[in-house]
Amino acid sequence: MAQVLHCAVQALFLAMASLYGVICASSENEYISAVGDPGMRRDGLRLAIEAWNQCNEVGEEAPNMGSPRAADCFDIYKASPQQGENQCSLCNSMPFMLVHRVTEEENRLRLGQPFLGGQQEAFNNVDLYAAEKEVYLGNKCQVEDIPNPWQFWMIMLKNGNMDTYAAKCPNNGLKVGPYGPDSRFPCFGEGCMNQPSIYHNYTTLQGPSQATLKGAFYGSWNLNTKSSDETNGNISYYSVTWEKELGKGSWIFHHVLRTSVMYPWLMLYLRADATTGFSGGYHYSTRGMLKIIPESPNFKVKFRLNVIRGGGSSSQFYLMDIGSCWKNNGQPCNGDVTSDVTRYNEMILNPETPSWCKPNDVKLCPPYHTFPNGSRVHRDDIAHFPYEAYHLYCSPGNAEFTEKPNIVCDPYSNPQPQEILQILPHPVWGDYGYPTRKGVGWIGDPRTWELDVGRLSQSLYFYQDPGTPPARRQWASVDLGTEIYKDPNQVAEWTVSDFNILVPKKY
Ligand SMILES: *[C@@H]1O[C@H](CO)[C@@H](O)[C@H](O)[C@H]1NC(C)=O
Ligand SMILES: *[C@@H]1O[C@H](CO)[C@@H](O)[C@H](O)[C@H]1NC(C)=O
Ligand SMILES: *[C@@H]1O[C@H](CO)[C@@H](O)[C@H](O)[C@H]1NC(C)=O
Repeated sequence: MAQVLHCAVQALFLAMASLYGVICASSENEYISAVGDPGMRRDGLRLAIEAWNQCNEVGEEAPNMGSPRAADCFDIYKASPQQGENQCSLCNSMPFMLVHRVTEEENRLRLGQPFLGGQQEAFNNVDLYAAEKEVYLGNKCQVEDIPNPWQFWMIMLKNGNMDTYAAKCPNNGLKVGPYGPDSRFPCFGEGCMNQPSIYHNYTTLQGPSQATLKGAFYGSWNLNTKSSDETNGNISYYSVTWEKELGKGSWIFHHVLRTSVMYPWLMLYLRADATTGFSGGYHYSTRGMLKIIPESPNFKVKFRLNVIRGGGSSSQFYLMDIGSCWKNNGQPCNGDVTSDVTRYNEMILNPETPSWCKPNDVKLCPPYHTFPNGSRVHRDDIAHFPYEAYHLYCSPGNAEFTEKPNIVCDPYSNPQPQEILQILPHPVWGDYGYPTRKGVGWIGDPRTWELDVGRLSQSLYFYQDPGTPPARRQWASVDLGTEIYKDPNQVAEWTVSDFNILVPKKY
């Protein structure tokens, strides 16, 4: 990053002197940013929010809230006086002007309401409608750039409740009928899979000198105030507020997530998603921030994270969560939900998260571990396998040649089969800049991370059919945030700033 900045400054001052080429061409290992807003430094913010049900769909819109996609995108203009400064009294009191690109009316667009560019069939299908609304908002927010335009950071919400009797979610991508009860999924009864309310404080200039940009999205999954949560004294809640000093530093995204008795399993992430194609777990065309899709082994992720409240022992706080998709034969995904497989790797920062991969019970371990020097150790090698480095591994539901014993991933929580590899702080990850012991970077220990996510994700085990050429590991989604897993009345709170993804300058 420093090098890139250095060159940019040089380019600015020395472009005429043609020294620029000489100085910058001589530096090795040059990186460029894969995100539209490197380090979150752009005053003119590009931000959107999306909410998903258990199987990453909408299912049903929350009353009066619109389709659960909204955006806060604006440009800043400085009022410049035509002639002498004195003639513009307004300019001195309000020197900057924010022009929002997405109106309240557009943010509230809901099923049945047509918009420009939307496909006819989407206007009466609640899931397709949200997908098309995301594309529509993306068009409003899009920033032209090299090598590709980009649209926004994405805040993602997810409600883990599932009504198995409503038969809304497919099983490994296949439609199934009502069934139950299923103790794996919480549900208080009919309507438990609802979308949250989404309230929006549009970004404005605030503070004594009108130099602080600030805005928020917030809401609750509790839509009925007479619910049992209310009488219990706690309702579910989320908020993301963003703040930045005009012309200085990074945006700071401040997140709060609270679970309740009715909504004990909730997720809140800040995502950098692909600008086209699919992104992790989403089987519609997406919009996002990744003007270049980072690919293993060559990319790094930098950010600052301050965990203020952890969200309890069941809060799976993802320091880093990357999502990709490839078929078991190594081919890229094409939208066929029966053979596409979403692949996730997550580093869980919460020191209370135990390892479920054990020497005497290896079913939740990946078949082998690969050290940075390339040497491999099988999970049966009790003396050498780093069991404590893994929370769990689960294999895709449609994988035919898995090593036994194994556990298949939850077949419902994605539109297609999924594979998950969750890792924990451990010395084996130190070479990649990941935490090496529990507690590092947790509450009271804010840190700036520089993670070699590319090299780490290249080394990880992911399933493929025997003899098939290795998949390209392209990560269409790079996120951080928490998943509070079936634990009511928990609160997590954290801030993220300075986020960047660096890729080699070959593009
Ligand atoms: C949104 O704005 C209202 C009115 O200014 C304020 O009271 C509230 O705290 C804001 N919400 C968040 C989450 O920042
Ligand atoms: C590779 O690294 C592992 C773990 O540090 C070590 O045990 C092993 O001896 C190394 N192998 C080689 C060939 O250097
Ligand atoms: C509400 O939540 C808080 C934690 O945020 C918890 O201490 C309290 O016991 C909860 N109240 C009830 C009535 O469940």
